[in-house]
Amino acid sequence: MTQSEHVQGSAAARDHIVIFDTTLRDGEQCPGATMTFEDKLGVAALLDEMGVDVIEAGFPIASEGDFEAVSEIARRTSRAVVAGLARAVEGDIARAGAAVRHARRPRIHTFVSTSPIHLAHQMRKSEEDVLAIIARTVTQARGLVDDVEWSAMDATRTPIDYLCRCVEAAIRAGATTINLPDTVGYALPDEYRAMFRAVRERVPEADKAVFSVHCHNDLGLAVANTLAGIEGGARQVECTLNGIGERAGNAALEEVVMAIRTRGDALAFRTGIESTMLTRASKLVSAVTSFPVQFNKAIVGRNAFAHESGIHQDGMLKDASTYEIMTPASVGVSKTSLVMGKHSGRHAFKEKLREMGYVLGENALEDAFKRFKDIADRKKTVYDEDLAALVDDQIGSAHERIKLEALTVIAGTMGPQSATLTLAIDNVHTTRQATGNGPVDAILNAIQAIVPHEAVLDLYHVQAVTEGTDAQAEVSIRLAQDGRSMTGKGSDPDTLVASGRAYIAALNKLMATSRGTGQPEVLQAG
Ligand code: KIV
Ligand code: ZN
Repeated sequence: MTQSEHVQGSAAARDHIVIFDTTLRDGEQCPGATMTFEDKLGVAALLDEMGVDVIEAGFPIASEGDFEAVSEIARRTSRAVVAGLARAVEGDIARAGAAVRHARRPRIHTFVSTSPIHLAHQMRKSEEDVLAIIARTVTQARGLVDDVEWSAMDATRTPIDYLCRCVEAAIRAGATTINLPDTVGYALPDEYRAMFRAVRERVPEADKAVFSVHCHNDLGLAVANTLAGIEGGARQVECTLNGIGERAGNAALEEVVMAIRTRGDALAFRTGIESTMLTRASKLVSAVTSFPVQFNKAIVGRNAFAHESGIHQDGMLKDASTYEIMTPASVGVSKTSLVMGKHSGRHAFKEKLREMGYVLGENALEDAFKRFKDIADRKKTVYDEDLAALVDDQIGSAHERIKLEALTVIAGTMGPQSATLTLAIDNVHTTRQATGNGPVDAILNAIQAIVPHEAVLDLYHVQAVTEGTDAQAEVSIRLAQDGRSMTGKGSDPDTLVASGRAYIAALNKLMATSRGTGQPEVLQAG
C-alpha cells in the first residue's frame, strides 16, 4: 500500500465529488470517434458498473441514432443518473426529456452561451435576450424532470457580473446543477478557482445548486483546472475516459479520479469510482473509437508503470514506492502470471483475458481464441500487448457488415503491386483483384472495386505492438466523407493485412453512421 492509499482510510469524512462522464457525448463528438449503438450501450454499462454518478449518454436532438442510444441507455442503466444534452431551444429540451424519460434517475442538461464573443458572433442576441432564454428553457426542463443541469457555455470568457446574473436566473428557474465550462480551454487554474468562489459567494441561493466543472484541454490544463474548480467549491466533475473530446479533449476521468485518490493528503475529497476498472474502461473506449491511447498517457498509457532507466529499476527492485506513487493494481493493471504461447488452451486464454480486464461472451471468446492460435503459430512469443490488440480489434469489429475474408498481395521491386481480396458483405463473398502504387494502394483499390465509396483517406498510421521483426503491426486509418470522419484500427503480424482490416473498420463505421446513427456536424456542442 502506498502512503497516499493509506490516507484514503478516512474517506467517509471527505466531500463526495460527483463524476459526470461525457465520453458518450463530448467524447463521441471529436472527429473520428463516433461509436455504434452497441458500442455506446457497452460503454454505458461499464460506466455504471465502475461507479460513475452521471452518464451523459448523448445529444438526443442531433440524430435518430443519438436519440435511440440515449433512450436505451436510460432504460438499461440501473444506478447512475442518465443525462441527455439539449440546447436552450424548446424542441431540443422536449427531445432530451423524451429520451431520458425511462431512466430511473433522468436528467436534462441544457446549455446556452454567455460570453460576449459568443453572443455577438454566434447567437446574435443581447444579454437580456439570453437571460430570458435561460429562465424560459430551464423552467421548461424542470416541467419534464426534477434534475436539471444548466451550463453557461464559454463561462470562462464571460464577465463575472453577467455570469452571476445568468446563474441566478438558472437557479431561480429550478436548475439543480450549475456547470461553468472552460469551453475553449483558455482558463488558468487560479482564474478558474476564483471564478467558482466569486459566483458561489455572489449569487443568492447558490447553495441550492451543485456547481460543476467542465474543462477542455487546449492548453493541457484540463485536469489542473478541474482540481482548481473543486477547490473553488465545485462538487461535480465533467470528464471523459482517455480524455477524448472536442479538439484537444476534456479532462481525463482516470487522471482526475487518481489525483483525488493518490493525493488524499492534500485533497479532502473522494469519488465513488472503482479505480481498478480504469484500465479496462480505457481499453474499451480505445477499442470502440479506434483512438489509440498515447504510450505515456498518465494512468492508462502503456508506459505508465514501466521503468526503463537502470537507477529506476534498481529502486523498484528494492521498494516499489521509490518510483511509484500508486500501485498498478489500483488502476487494474495486474502482474502477468500466465505466459501465453501456442500450447495454451482455451481455459488459460480466458483466464488471461480476465486478468487483463476483458470479459467476452462465449462466441466472441471463441473467435478471439482462433485468432490467438493463428498469431501463436506465426509469432515466437505472444505478449499481453498482442492479446490486447487482438481483442480490441475484435471488439471494434463485432458489428461490422463488411469483413475481410482473404488477402493475397504481390509486392516488391517488380511492379505493378497487386492485391487479390475477398470480402464478406452481410455474409456474401466477393473477390476482386486490383493493382496500385504500392501494396497498400492496391489493397485499397481492391476494396473500392468491391464497395464503391466516396470516402477519402485522411490518416494512415502504423505502429508495432511489441518489439522484434515478428511483432504485430497496428494500423490506424481515418476516412472522411461529407464532413464526417471515422477511425478504424486493425492489427496483424502482416502489416498489409492490418492495413486492410483498419480500412474496412473505418468504412464500416462510416456506413453505419450514414444509416442514421451519426450526428450532423452542425449540432455538435463544445
Ligand atoms: O464545452 C462545453 O461548453 C460543453 C457544453 C455543452 C457543456 O460541452
Ligand atoms: Zn465540452
